[in-house]
Amino acid sequence: MIVPRLIERKRDGGSLAADEWRDLIHAYSAGDVPDYQMAALMMAVFFRGMTRGETEAITDAMLSSGARLDLSDMTGPRLDKHSTGGVGDKVSLILAPLIAALGVPVPMMSGRGLGHTGGTLDKLEAIPGFRTDLSLAAARAQLDRIGCALIGQTGEIAPADRKLYALRDATGTVESIPLISASIMSKKLAEGLTGLVLDIKSGSGAFLPALDREIDLAKTMIELGHDRGCPVVALVTAMDRPLGNACGNAIEVRESIEFLRGAPPADLATVTYALGAEMLLLAGVCTDREDAHAQMRDAITSGRAADRFRAIVAAQGGDQRVVDDVTLLPSAPVKMEYRAARDGIIQSVTPRVIGHGIVALGGGRRTMRDVVDPRVGFDVFVKPNAVVTEGEVIAIVHAADSSGSDVGRRVLDEAIAIGDAQVETLPLVSHRITSSAIELLHQPASRARSSTGSSR
Ligand code: URA
Repeated sequence: MIVPRLIERKRDGGSLAADEWRDLIHAYSAGDVPDYQMAALMMAVFFRGMTRGETEAITDAMLSSGARLDLSDMTGPRLDKHSTGGVGDKVSLILAPLIAALGVPVPMMSGRGLGHTGGTLDKLEAIPGFRTDLSLAAARAQLDRIGCALIGQTGEIAPADRKLYALRDATGTVESIPLISASIMSKKLAEGLTGLVLDIKSGSGAFLPALDREIDLAKTMIELGHDRGCPVVALVTAMDRPLGNACGNAIEVRESIEFLRGAPPADLATVTYALGAEMLLLAGVCTDREDAHAQMRDAITSGRAADRFRAIVAAQGGDQRVVDDVTLLPSAPVKMEYRAARDGIIQSVTPRVIGHGIVALGGGRRTMRDVVDPRVGFDVFVKPNAVVTEGEVIAIVHAADSSGSDVGRRVLDEAIAIGDAQVETLPLVSHRITSSAIELLHQPASRARSSTGSSR
């Protein structure tokens, strides 16, 4: 294998054979191909794309670079859910215990926040003591015991992807549909799933803001799963405003616990139940969506979902008392009320600005080495089209100190626009994509202040 020839071929629009991708990924993983050659190849892929055969080959090569969670002796379904990332997106924290409480094992492998999007691992680690670095053997034992394990990508799983993703992150080559698909699916396929639900975000706060690119991403991942015996269903959901009210690690855990205890913000409930219904349908444990919704509501109102979350927190070393007393979560010393500057109608709550604002407050990462402050972030109580009056509290900044609250105020000044006209928002759930079809769903756009039972 002469790597410069492979780079030149890709650069000139050709493709690499499956065995070339396999040998290359193997050699890169072993340290036999230098980063500069791999970076050049990734840039060529970024501009030239990959054929379906190439995408499959790199996925399989990264998958086989590590171990897998061997769940083949489990006879029933095993489901996970993956989001392409957003602001305020705490759906995984809610669905993992909720679906497990309904008897469907959830081996969930999540990532950390990077850039403007948050990460499930950072949110979970806001719970005092919570550990996400379980070995595969420990995750397996926990799955047997309580039906759910919430873990990060260990060194055991798809190590080639881990190395390649860090390289792509540093070389401007992340936003490539075949590379993202291969990266995500190599990890998901290592979980031994019988089904996967994808939450594909659309809108200005999405990873790939153009809807057609998001749909291509979904289709690529669906095909990869389908051909490897893991059915995948995707929902396209709105990320033109944050999801729910809380945006920041500990406060998102608080909102997730409030959800599990029966008090969800309306938009978060719509998206979570829609994705949960797809998981239950794939698992074959409900007759239709109505049944799925009824089962999920029952798991919440009976307390079973919160009980399961308590068990997961305890099993992973966390302080399970947070499930009954959210004041035990880390809390920012400065909480500043942010008031509407005028009467009017909310025009926008821009997720990218809020997401970058969390980073500016210390609650996110600029590089993977940064340490996050779990306490900081924003509670934003309004959505586009909410009618507000001057002086009304529409958000709270959670900051580490008074200079942080000044930063937070400026972030909200930029993120929240008040005007006089009604505005168009994306439907909360707009498309359902399977291996055979793309369905357009007719969910009305969110029009008002988010109705919530959650506390400020
Ligand atoms: N998340 C991943 O795990 N991989 C990518 O390439 C992009 C997002």
